[in-house]
Amino acid sequence: MGQRGIMKRISSLFLLTVLAMALVLSGCDVGKKDSGNGKVKIGVTVYDQYDTFVSQLMECFQEFKEDNVEIVVYNASQSQQTQNTQVQKMIDDGCDVICVNLVDRTDPTAVIDAAKKGDVPIVFFNRELVEGDINQWNKLFYVGANAVESGIMEGQLAATACLADKSIDKNGDGLIQYVVLEGEAGHQDSIVRTEYSVNTLISSGVEVEKVGYAIANWNRAQAQTKMSQFIDQYPDGIELVLANNDDMALGAIDAYESAGIIRSKWPAIFGIDGTDVGLEAVRDDRMVGTVYNDKEGQAKAMYRLCIILARGGDITELSDEFTIDDGKYIRLPYDKVTATNINLYIKR
Ligand code: GAL
Repeated sequence: MGQRGIMKRISSLFLLTVLAMALVLSGCDVGKKDSGNGKVKIGVTVYDQYDTFVSQLMECFQEFKEDNVEIVVYNASQSQQTQNTQVQKMIDDGCDVICVNLVDRTDPTAVIDAAKKGDVPIVFFNRELVEGDINQWNKLFYVGANAVESGIMEGQLAATACLADKSIDKNGDGLIQYVVLEGEAGHQDSIVRTEYSVNTLISSGVEVEKVGYAIANWNRAQAQTKMSQFIDQYPDGIELVLANNDDMALGAIDAYESAGIIRSKWPAIFGIDGTDVGLEAVRDDRMVGTVYNDKEGQAKAMYRLCIILARGGDITELSDEFTIDDGKYIRLPYDKVTATNINLYIKR
């Protein structure tokens, strides 16, 4: 073989080596996404495991688990710093995808930076981060619901009841004296539900008078304390309670019960979520209505999205089943629940 022949051989060998290396590398990248042997490891961190709606959402999520899937769940106990540490640990432990129920929805920077560095996609849920943050990386997604819709529906439920049942206006002054029990300050659902429920009530033709607002952080005991103070101030002056969620509506009910006030003297009380305890209260006519926050649908969307992302797929694979907005958001619709359709929800 002449010198030219040898050179040709060397360069084709070199080319082959480069090609083989490229294949191996791209194989790592594209095929990398699950932990190997088809197994998928999903990490989850919730802002507070004692939150009634979030814990029921997680129960639904676990029900989707298949044999080749491992799910690890952490409780951030209302500390963003704890949650940041948990996210880093889940990345180090080899999670293929992580679901984050942010403690502070305005402070996802550490979570996003860690995810980018470890190249692990994140599915945020229930506590919505701002648009500027979710757009920081193409592997960030959100599953939840549209808070505006829940506020409008709660306002519609209350308006229908007030217009149909004149006995809600107990003092007969033509005005409905109302109280709003609000979730955490700064949470997208609190701000929006308060605004839209009250505005919908008014635009539906109900004349109202605000007795008071109180923040009770989604919490039943805090709502009971706040409501007891209102009852002390206005013993029979409250005709309607709009609570941002069921737990706080139940706290209002607890307050009336422990004040020894009989049911016929209670205001009309409304909640949002359709948790087990919330639905029972509607069934037993302690709460007039609630708005169903579709935990089954949200859990399903989260789970399916996790599996797709873990296997290196794309959110658009879910477009037959769910509406996808901006290639990043899946929001499940709410539903109105009253005594007339309660059976459809209680059996879910
Ligand atoms: C809301 C829900 C509340 C509470 C909150 C926590 O969507 O209605 O009950 O769970 O999320 O972020």
